[in-house]
Amino acid sequence: MTESELKELIVESGDIPGHIAIIMDGNGRWAEIRGRPRVFGHQHGMNAVRAVVEGCRELGCKALTLYAFSEENWKRPRSEIKVLMRLLRKYIEKEQNNLKKDGIKLRCLGRLGKIDAEPRKTLEEAVAYTADCNDMVLNLAISYGSRSEIVDAARYLCREAAAGRLDPESVDEYTFAGALYTSGLPDPDLLIRTSGEMRVSNFLLWQIAYTEIYITPILWPDFTKKDLFEAIGEFQKRDRRFGRVKSKK
Ligand code: IPE
Ligand code: IPE
Ligand code: MG
Repeated sequence: MTESELKELIVESGDIPGHIAIIMDGNGRWAEIRGRPRVFGHQHGMNAVRAVVEGCRELGCKALTLYAFSEENWKRPRSEIKVLMRLLRKYIEKEQNNLKKDGIKLRCLGRLGKIDAEPRKTLEEAVAYTADCNDMVLNLAISYGSRSEIVDAARYLCREAAAGRLDPESVDEYTFAGALYTSGLPDPDLLIRTSGEMRVSNFLLWQIAYTEIYITPILWPDFTKKDLFEAIGEFQKRDRRFGRVKSKK
């Protein structure tokens, strides 16, 4: 099936996930297979980012969350981190006009304070530049760790309670979700991980409670718009029960 036939099929089926999250993994292995340094894989991974943003927008998906750099990734060699941050800056600088034109609001999730001043400034400016866009949200999870996110939310709620602005007894799942970096967004319907790894690597632990998980062996730089559509096609076949009994189709 071609990309456009697949697209037609999933659009006809109607159930397009409102929020897709992706663990973009396998850049290093993609480069190693080719006898090239890991950063070569990161460079090529940028094309896949463009393709999935475009694919989501075409389908009318309202939110896309991309895991670009984890808190644990700070433990990588400084040279690799430098290239990743440079590529990120380059991507933002190149794409921000397109994002704005396409009505895509950029948000960053993570402990951004750890990022060097220059890439951080680029990110913050792009977030401000696209702030009034409302067709779709593109979340970049950078310097992101889900446990840190949960800790940050708990600290915020404790501070509010200590200041007398919040009754601890009133805290429920909604209040808590509202204190996370993803505040205001629905939970992901679909989580895609490339490179075949069967783990979530500290990504959106709270938010993926009932998310459908799709793992593909494809390495991130090879992931295409068609692969995205295939993942959505697979998602549409799932029976999401949310703890209830099987629904009759
Ligand atoms: C994903 O690719 C990109 C980041 C984590 C920043 P990797 O760099 O993890 O590539 P592999 O998993 O080593 O192949
Ligand atoms: C997860 O990939 C983080 C990103 C894709 C940004 P990793 O390559 O860092 O995860 P592990 O180490 O295989 O769990
Ligand atoms: Mg990896």
